[in-house]
Amino acid sequence: MSVVERIEELKLEALSALAEAGTTKDLESVRVKYLGRSADLTEIKKSIRDLPQDERKAVGGSSNRATKEIEAALAERLAEVAVAEREEKLRAEAVDVTLPGAPYPKGSLHPSLRVIDEVVDFFVGLGYRVAEGPEVETDYYNFTALNIPPGHPARGMQDTFFLDDGLVLRTHTSPVQVRTMLSQEPPVYIVCPGRTYRRDSDPTHTPMFNQIEGLAVDKGLTLGDLKGTLAAMARHIFGEDVKVRLRPSYFQFVEPGVELDVSCFICGGSDPNCKVCKGAGWIEMLGAGMVDPAVLSEAGYDPEEYTGFAFGMGPDRMAMVRYGIPDLRLFFEGDLRFLQQF
Ligand code: DAH
Repeated sequence: MSVVERIEELKLEALSALAEAGTTKDLESVRVKYLGRSADLTEIKKSIRDLPQDERKAVGGSSNRATKEIEAALAERLAEVAVAEREEKLRAEAVDVTLPGAPYPKGSLHPSLRVIDEVVDFFVGLGYRVAEGPEVETDYYNFTALNIPPGHPARGMQDTFFLDDGLVLRTHTSPVQVRTMLSQEPPVYIVCPGRTYRRDSDPTHTPMFNQIEGLAVDKGLTLGDLKGTLAAMARHIFGEDVKVRLRPSYFQFVEPGVELDVSCFICGGSDPNCKVCKGAGWIEMLGAGMVDPAVLSEAGYDPEEYTGFAFGMGPDRMAMVRYGIPDLRLFFEGDLRFLQQF
């Protein structure tokens, strides 16, 4: 076989290999095999200078043409394969927009928040303002300014989380009373929802819990105003038929101090086995009282001119009663199966 014939043979081989190669990678192998540095055709070109003069032109011409033809066919195939490969990739990565989406679990309002919203709404409707205070509180606002001086045994009952430098995690929302009075002139009508902390953990106590404080200071406020206000609130939260009663109680920062009970809104006192009131007919709801003159004076108000009432309630506990939830710890686990029931 002459060299020119061999070139022709190599070319045909290369062209058919190119026609068969289906991927960019296969085409590259064909290129290396037929046009690469050690390809037969390349060897032939290198050896041209050793050929007799009269053969050089023919071999040179036909090897160049063969190379060009193979290169052209390669370029064409590369373009075709690239299109096919892109289409294949698009097909593989295609998104089926008709598939149903993965549903996100939906949250819901926390039972405590529902009660907080209702209580706050009620008081805002009466013209009260919402006030807030820090959860990390000074010993002074949490205790001293509320008539609980250093060393007083009432401090020991609060299971306080003490921090450094005379700071505490507030054990109640009552310090917001003092902060508010120090920042404005009377009259004051505020409600203060917020988180509070005590070292306590059992089915009905958690180290963090919510409270709502209320404070009204004005000329001529009486215990009757306190009772009327809280009775209206109880009707708003638990239904028109509930009755309230006050029992004497003691809190350092009020005088007199009372606890407010709500008539059982489940059995109305008629069921001795009632799960909510345990047959008592009454449910303890909150602490309250007439603001102690010592607290008014400490905040710079004249107790001869102004009187006030204050109250503090636990919306978590109210939600437990309202929804019949036996364990308070469920409130703070964030389990959607629990939360979605309300
Ligand atoms: N701060 C009290 C507590 O956490 C609740 C309380 C009782 C608040 C009587 C008051 C009040 O404003 O007058 O136990």
